[in-house]
Amino acid sequence: MRVLSGIQPTGNLHLGNYLGAIRNWVKMQDEMDADSQCFFFLADMHSITVHEAREQRIRNVRDMAAALVAAGIDPDRSVLFNQARVPAHAELCWLLNGTARIGWLNRMTQFKDKAGKDREGASVGLFVYPVLQAADILAYNATHVPVGEDQKQHLELARDIAAKFNSDFGVDLFTLPDPIIPKESARIMSLRDGSAKMSKSDPSDMSRINLTDDDDAIMAKVKKAKSDQEMLPETAAGLAGRPEASNLVGILATLTARTPDAVCAEFAGKGFGAFKPALGEVLVETLRPIRQRFLELRTDDAALDAILDKGAAKAAAAAEPTLRAAYDAMGLMR
Ligand code: TYM
Repeated sequence: MRVLSGIQPTGNLHLGNYLGAIRNWVKMQDEMDADSQCFFFLADMHSITVHEAREQRIRNVRDMAAALVAAGIDPDRSVLFNQARVPAHAELCWLLNGTARIGWLNRMTQFKDKAGKDREGASVGLFVYPVLQAADILAYNATHVPVGEDQKQHLELARDIAAKFNSDFGVDLFTLPDPIIPKESARIMSLRDGSAKMSKSDPSDMSRINLTDDDDAIMAKVKKAKSDQEMLPETAAGLAGRPEASNLVGILATLTARTPDAVCAEFAGKGFGAFKPALGEVLVETLRPIRQRFLELRTDDAALDAILDKGAAKAAAAAEPTLRAAYDAMGLMR
């Protein structure tokens, strides 16, 4: 088993990232056996699709590295690195650009969402972003890729690229990766709008809980979260058509390892005035130790850089045989 996943180091790690992906990364790392390996990386090469000043980008990588370690990624057991330190990602991306089809990329919903109405003005990087993501995965022959629901289409594309490359060049080189998507928390929604996913790029900070928010900020955001005037129902079926209520119940269910039905049963007949402080309390208790570790780790840039350097050396060595075989399959003398 080879587990691999990535996160863009743009802005803060938020509750959607944590519940949708990072918690699963930590779980898979902790359950790993001797024959398995976990690779987790900061997708800083992907982040060039968002303009950022140099100093900010350097800070972002260290911030996200610290956040992942604080959330439970152990750099001694998992390979933790940033893409830019491992040239195999960019190299394999270029090779796979010969395999990926424009028609496939045109169907990517994330490109459509991010490019918005001004497609002609979007960067080429944003368009080929999913090819780099395929390279990230295929370079390591990853078998399992823990992600949130929004990455499912990119994973399907990675499988299509792998299958086409293998067939075009008559090799059995790339492994087709399986997405690992959590059942309950695959799509955590914005606290301000139950129809939009919680995201780093939402201009309103009230829309998300950041792993760096202090206790008061967390409680304030939960209390101000959009909800409705109705009471909580006996079962989760009664949440149909109530996206904000479903989201808040789903978050509490995930955090307390219960089903949404069990959470509804506890609060049935009560309003959000009773529910929100309970949710806020659980969030505060869950996130406090992560925030405290983050703040400690963030005081030592050199230690974070050393973690990433060590991880990059291991990652480069792991990717090298596949990269070499891809050049060779294509008849490119390296
Ligand atoms: P990114 O940085 O947007 O998000 C990191 C992870 O968090 C998940 N996620 C969510 N899950 C549930 N609810 C939400 N509101 C929510 N928001 C984000 C994402 O699904 C993701 O798993 N393209 C990727 C990074 C990437 C990658 C890869 C992932 C680059 N190469 C290779 C896997 C394999 C991205 O932008 O994730």
